[in-house]
Amino acid sequence: MTVNRAFRLRRRPSGALASGDLELVDEPVADLEDGQALVRTLLLSLDPTNRIWMSDMRGYMPPVPLDDVMRGLGVGEVIASRRDDLPVGALVTGWTGWQELCVADDARLDAPFSVLPDPLPGPMTAFLGALGHTGITAYIGVDLGRVQEGDTVVVSAAAGAVGSIAGQLAKARGARVVGVAGGPEKARHVVQVLGFDECVDHRAPDWREQLDAATPDGIDVDFENVGGAIMDHVLMRLNVGARVVLCGMISQYNASGHGTDWAGQVNIGQLIMQRATMEGFLVLDHVDRFEEAIGALAGLLAAGRLHYAETVLEDGLAGAPDALAALFAGTNTGKLVLRVAEGMAR
Ligand SMILES: NC(=O)c1ccc[n+]([C@@H]2O[C@H](COP(=O)([O-])OP(=O)(O)OC[C@H]3O[C@@H](n4cnc5c(N)ncnc54)[C@H](OP(=O)(O)O)[C@@H]3O)[C@@H](O)[C@H]2O)c1
Repeated sequence: MTVNRAFRLRRRPSGALASGDLELVDEPVADLEDGQALVRTLLLSLDPTNRIWMSDMRGYMPPVPLDDVMRGLGVGEVIASRRDDLPVGALVTGWTGWQELCVADDARLDAPFSVLPDPLPGPMTAFLGALGHTGITAYIGVDLGRVQEGDTVVVSAAAGAVGSIAGQLAKARGARVVGVAGGPEKARHVVQVLGFDECVDHRAPDWREQLDAATPDGIDVDFENVGGAIMDHVLMRLNVGARVVLCGMISQYNASGHGTDWAGQVNIGQLIMQRATMEGFLVLDHVDRFEEAIGALAGLLAAGRLHYAETVLEDGLAGAPDALAALFAGTNTGKLVLRVAEGMAR
């Protein structure tokens, strides 16, 4: 009998994810039917949105139903198959979920997988980061912000998966790019390795003064990943005609209530004063541009014009809840990935 290990969502978290919200269970896997393949999860992507999916806030996807396997993106390999498009040995990316084994079955909503190229044009981890959904998010967001030469662009969570790529893409368009990141080490990384012009340490008591000093000519584009107080200060520095690209608001994802006990962005009125626009976007709405985005990102990587960092945790599936917490504590630099299993030698 084949046995799967999976995290099932038992309770909706209140605040930060707590023990008891998820349960790690061992369960048998049924024999494959025609049209199914069995995928072993090798890498699991940890994303701030995982926390949104656990809650029943009004979201962009239905919440993970209680007692279901936790939803998640990953890279896996096909280890048994009764479908021609997913042969044994193929590396795939898609909705693996927080589990060691996943049945790929197109008849199920969460099952489509894409087969990765063979040989892989980059490290497997990159297909969850710079060449995966976070890199594509950065590419789409910078485009929506209409970043141009001479703009001052601020990117929050600048040392993270999306922010690190967004800032470099804005720089490649000729903008002056200022990052916001937590701690002096990350701020150094953002400037010295990623090539941003400056980086504000939001953990320093004088971060507002740092941001003012780094944006003497105001802000033309805000690539917003964090929300809350950082976004509020950025709003006060917007120039006339500025664009706020609302990619994420991680500072709010652990908040309870979502709309009932949060004062909101105090300075939102600056959008009126400065005739600025704010556009929220979801990478999932831009599937038609994925190929273009991956091509552009791969080209920049191959030319040595794009750098990315990643934090790969080697804790196996059991480490997933702690790994998610790391995103909120900010202990990751670059894309956060959990290695669930070693793949077959290729
Ligand atoms: N719209 C879309 O389609 C889309 C797609 C992917 C991701 N996103 C959003 O993009 C944002 C970044 O995601 P990611 O995957 O690239 O994660 P990430 O930036 O790699 O990791 C999250 C980072 O956020 C920072 N952070 C966490 N809590 C914070 C707080 N309270 N105040 C300030 N900074 C905080 C931490 O960095 P520091 O140590 O620097 O504080 C942490 O490392 C998230 O908001 C996510 O929801 C949106």
